[in-house]
Amino acid sequence: MNNERRVVVTAAASGIGLAVAKAFAANGDRVYICDINEKALREATEGNPSITATVCDVSDRSSIEAFVEAAAAALGGIDVLVNNAGISGPTSPVEEMDPDQWEAVLGVNLTGTFNVTRLAIPLLRRSDAGVVIIMSSLGGRFAYPDRSPYAVTKRGLIALTETLAAELGDAGVRVNAIAPGAVEGDRIRRVLQGRADASGRSLGEVTADALSLQSIKRFVDPNDIAALALFLASDSAKSITGQTIAIDGGSKAAV
Ligand SMILES: NC(=O)c1ccc[n+]([C@@H]2O[C@H](COP(=O)([O-])OP(=O)(O)OC[C@H]3O[C@@H](n4cnc5c(N)ncnc54)[C@H](O)[C@@H]3O)[C@@H](O)[C@H]2O)c1
Repeated sequence: MNNERRVVVTAAASGIGLAVAKAFAANGDRVYICDINEKALREATEGNPSITATVCDVSDRSSIEAFVEAAAAALGGIDVLVNNAGISGPTSPVEEMDPDQWEAVLGVNLTGTFNVTRLAIPLLRRSDAGVVIIMSSLGGRFAYPDRSPYAVTKRGLIALTETLAAELGDAGVRVNAIAPGAVEGDRIRRVLQGRADASGRSLGEVTADALSLQSIKRFVDPNDIAALALFLASDSAKSITGQTIAIDGGSKAAV
């Protein structure tokens, strides 16, 4: 592994982002993270001297500008950008979807990723081995009933990944997406609870249904996603760009 890379991870005060940030820090890299939740951000950086942070709402363009500038100043540049920020959005069919909620999901998942990446590209071009990783989802690979804004943004991020890879290959910057299946943790419990509430079934029933769509009958360990991100950012992945790597226990449909 390369040493002391300058790594930026969005929405990394908890969940997958925090696992990714900790994995890079444990690898000897310097990591700068953001999150909308100031308290969680403080807790995430306490006791982790190689992780520093600032509050940022990735749906807000000026907040992103301040974040990318602060990250570049703190780290002295950017080698690896992990666009992790993404919200689940509502569970509802299209004809009942609140257009404001649709906009909110697009604002964080798609436009937020676009804006962070747009501002980081000049810095990545100056790196010896620039890498962008984008967090897509199983929900971006298969039809995802009742989750249209999430599905659309996660599919859109695959298009953004392929486009960026084509634009930045000449500069030696590699761009790949990770498409996790349902990850063990609070988020999947919230999603499944939303589905249970919407359908009138029990949480146990919707959980069993979800696992029946996978070959491996457990949700994904966030540390395995962090290990995949570390691999994609390493020299071992130097010939891999423009790809979406699924990590989903062999899922055959969106969970
Ligand atoms: N958990 C899963 O099952 C799963 C599956 C596939 C893909 N993903 C994707 O992985 C990424 C991380 O998922 P997670 O489950 O760890 O997320 P999460 O719901 O646990 O949230 C992670 C962090 O995002 C922060 N956040 C929320 N809105 C923000 C904003 N506007 N600006 C900055 N930070 C914000 C939260 O405060 C939180 O600390 C997302 O892009 C998600 O779509 C997750």
